[in-house]
Amino acid sequence: MTTKSERPILVTGAAGDLGAIGRNVTEMLLAKGRKVRALVRKEDERAEGLRRLGAEVVQADLTDLTSMHRAIEGVSRIYFGMSVSPSYLEATVNTAAVARHHGVEAFVNMSQMTVTQMSITETTDSPQHKLHWLAEQALAWSGLPVVTVRPTVFLEGFFLRLAAAGVQQRDELALPLGNSKTSPISAVDVARAVSVILDDPAPHIGKVYNLTGYESADLDHYAQVFSEALGRKISYRNVPLTGWIEALRGFGVPAHLASHLSLMSKLHAEGRYDRMTDDLSELTGQPPTSMHDFVKLHAADFARREAA
Ligand SMILES: NC(=O)c1ccc[n+]([C@@H]2O[C@H](COP(=O)([O-])OP(=O)(O)OC[C@H]3O[C@@H](n4cnc5c(N)ncnc54)[C@H](OP(=O)(O)O)[C@@H]3O)[C@@H](O)[C@H]2O)c1
Repeated sequence: MTTKSERPILVTGAAGDLGAIGRNVTEMLLAKGRKVRALVRKEDERAEGLRRLGAEVVQADLTDLTSMHRAIEGVSRIYFGMSVSPSYLEATVNTAAVARHHGVEAFVNMSQMTVTQMSITETTDSPQHKLHWLAEQALAWSGLPVVTVRPTVFLEGFFLRLAAAGVQQRDELALPLGNSKTSPISAVDVARAVSVILDDPAPHIGKVYNLTGYESADLDHYAQVFSEALGRKISYRNVPLTGWIEALRGFGVPAHLASHLSLMSKLHAEGRYDRMTDDLSELTGQPPTSMHDFVKLHAADFARREAA
């Protein structure tokens, strides 16, 4: 008979898209000698990569009951996270219901730090924030052994995927974030915190961790950091939000995500992302990745090139 700790840990969102927390958590838990069952939505090269790392791969949809029984049966602990989506609440409750049925030692839920500023009388206009708040409510009612992780904005979104083209083509950090301060965090650091919790969840059950980055600074400061890291002058341009969102929609960004990014930008401009906590270094024993180190790491993505 296997003991609980010998049962695998289920990691959802393991293929990875924007922050790829699930993929990084899989890698980190395997490096700690844990067995990992990595949940992917489809069989593709990313699923093969997870197998090569040593994970057991399960193909499942987080909103589907039958496939979630297959994914959860026999696991000890769960990391729950998926890409920003209108079905986030359905996926959370579906996964939680099946986890309750099978019984787990820990359910680590990925949320967002803005939920810390929300209450029964106050959410935000972002559909994704509201879904995260409701998902946290449902998990609190579930009686599951929940650990809640609420990071601030990821470096990999606004400061890489959404900024790379402007830096490459015009030496500009062209973002609609206003002039307030923000403390973006590396999703790899978030994954490290999640893997520490999953490795030994007992002391963390019932806790909420608010994770922030290396420093809270304005966008002119970050443009200066980009300049130093890349060795050429990069300037911040506070672009009008409406045109920026229309351009994203033109590139095929779904309405739900576009609406979330729009609200995040407005909250940035209002200074709502000017936050700092010590939760990350207390959990992991390591300081957050700085913007300088992040830009150096991704320097190839910011190299000067003309528009395709
Ligand atoms: N980005 C930020 O600034 C930020 C800040 C704070 C918190 N967060 C939170 O972080 C989470 C996102 O984490 P992440 O960046 O690691 O995610 P991600 O890499 O963008 O996506 C993870 C995976 O979820 C999978 N997925 C989506 N819908 C699914 C479904 N119905 N069934 C099974 N799998 C599904 C996707 O599979 P496919 O790729 O195959 O479609 C994707 O690979 C969200 O909770 C978000 O609110 C984000």
